[in-house]
Amino acid sequence: MSAASVPSASPGSIPGMSKLVTVKDAVGDGVDAERGRTLCNELEAGNILYFPHTPFAFPEDDLNFLLGLKQTDASFHKNIAYRPAEDRITGLDKTAQGPEVDRLRAIVAGYSRRSAEFLGSLLPPYAGKWKLDYASYRPLEEQGRPARLRARNDLPHVDAFPTRPTNGDRILRLFTNINPSQNRVWITSQTFDVIGPQFAKMLGLPRRQSSSPLAKAFRGIANAAHVPGANRSPYDDFMHRCHNAMKESGEFQENCPKQRWEFPPHSTWIVFTDSVSHAVLQGQYALEQTFIISLEAMVRPENSPLRILERLAGHPLTRAS
Ligand code: SIN
Ligand code: FE
Repeated sequence: MSAASVPSASPGSIPGMSKLVTVKDAVGDGVDAERGRTLCNELEAGNILYFPHTPFAFPEDDLNFLLGLKQTDASFHKNIAYRPAEDRITGLDKTAQGPEVDRLRAIVAGYSRRSAEFLGSLLPPYAGKWKLDYASYRPLEEQGRPARLRARNDLPHVDAFPTRPTNGDRILRLFTNINPSQNRVWITSQTFDVIGPQFAKMLGLPRRQSSSPLAKAFRGIANAAHVPGANRSPYDDFMHRCHNAMKESGEFQENCPKQRWEFPPHSTWIVFTDSVSHAVLQGQYALEQTFIISLEAMVRPENSPLRILERLAGHPLTRAS
């Protein structure tokens, strides 16, 4: 089976609609610098890299363990995050402990490590130029999953993490569908070069951050006191507001051009979710690893949401040094 796309309009005629770039031969053929650059170009143009077969090892035992968790314990019925820097999982009930939790952590840690090794060899321009962000295991059926409006993932949006500001670096995510029989169903809409200016008109463009000694001192104190949002740049602030506004706008949700994608069992896909507006409609049991890639590693930095907004604003939107 392949990732079927069911366009709701002719996507070729609409600017900013993503294409699927199928990569069939990524396993075990080593680093290929030129192909890596081409693939980075595709990603930065807003396209989705798609691997019909997950291109790194996924031990059968691990798979069976993850799928088997559903029968055993209600505390595993949640989306589970893994923090590589701390080798810690979050999202379980406080009561969850023991060998099952250790095994779960080890499996998601293995996925995190292998997906990062794979990405480094597939995309040499990005290798070593990222922060390994959280990985997650998503065992819940997405269709009809109850969530607050701003936390809903079935409404097209671009990603922005309010607690982990990027200051203009990029959010690249790698997903694997481990459901044995069901596709994971996504829709995508337009990329940030189209959507960003629309929402900038609605929300207003952020001002540049003041670099006066007083403003800097004030930010230093707020940061030291861990005041929520204190280390967000004007860019991060805008992206967070844009994420919320997209989900809250009935007009946008109804009228934005949509393309539907079906990612079959055991496939993997990679996408810059800070630029490609996306939503998940259906699917259960997926793993995901997030990479925060340095803006300096981009082969087309002018396509990044930061540069798009800075061109519109006419001033820098990163943190003032
Ligand atoms: C999202 O990033 O909006 C969720 C995608 C997914 O879980 O498939
Ligand atoms: Fe998202």
